Amino acid sequence: MAKIIGGITTSHVPAIGGAIAKNLQQDPYWKPFFDGFIPVRRWLAEVKPDVVVVVYNDHGLNFFLDKMPTFSVGAAPEYRNSDEGWGIPQVPAFNGDTALSWHMIESLVAEDFDLTTCQEMLVDHAFTLPMALLWPDQKWPVKVVPVCINTVQAPLPSAARCLKLGQAIGRAVASWPGQDKVVVLGTGGLSHQLDGERAGFINKAFDQKFMDSMVDDPAWATQFDTHQLVEQAGTQGVELLMWLTTRGALGEKVRALHRNYHIPISNTASGLMLLQPV
Ligand code: DHB
Ligand code: FE
Repeated sequence: MAKIIGGITTSHVPAIGGAIAKNLQQDPYWKPFFDGFIPVRRWLAEVKPDVVVVVYNDHGLNFFLDKMPTFSVGAAPEYRNSDEGWGIPQVPAFNGDTALSWHMIESLVAEDFDLTTCQEMLVDHAFTLPMALLWPDQKWPVKVVPVCINTVQAPLPSAARCLKLGQAIGRAVASWPGQDKVVVLGTGGLSHQLDGERAGFINKAFDQKFMDSMVDDPAWATQFDTHQLVEQAGTQGVELLMWLTTRGALGEKVRALHRNYHIPISNTASGLMLLQPV
């Protein structure tokens, strides 16, 4: 049976793509951020996953405001990114695991998640940059299954619903007869707000509490509705829903193998966790 061997959660700021293009990893501004990934890359080199389920939010590249699925799952043989207007280089295409995608879609729909299935799908910085942080040579040694959650246009799914989606993803992978080692990668957050009067808002105390809850008490964040999450984490901080989904997929108990937190990267409090199911 396929097995989820770990979960990685990280922020996904477009400026990271510019820093990679300019080789700024050792620059004092960027070093505390990039260095956070060294232990995660070491772990990946040891465990050698076959597939990464990437839980992320699209920012207008694949879905625009005219058609906005709450939850969508990719079932394409290949995923490319495209110019989003940030001026960052495009990365090589990713190979999809269509068999696992369809199995997950069947399993999630059977559990009453009403998904949009995408046999063509562009993936944006929220997908490509975390992958480039994990595999800097961009010779992706894994197949991918994208899971996209709407966090750009109201109404958003609740934290409780995202945690349940994650748990259902965990069951879907566990029931796949393949022998694959699967990593779930959730990207977004932590606290940030790009627009309005509170642009630049960051909430370190909330982020730290949320990261603690990711280990011992994943239901903690479900006490907040969408407005309360925005209040606590900022309008784009709601991207922490991707972390919660990832955590749900890892089962009851996890061990934190690594954790990093650094303010700021662009307008964002950047967080990173590596969690292992126990
Ligand atoms: C920034 C953060 C994001 O999550 C994003 O999608 C775009 C920009 C930022 O901090 O600049
Ligand atoms: Fe974002």
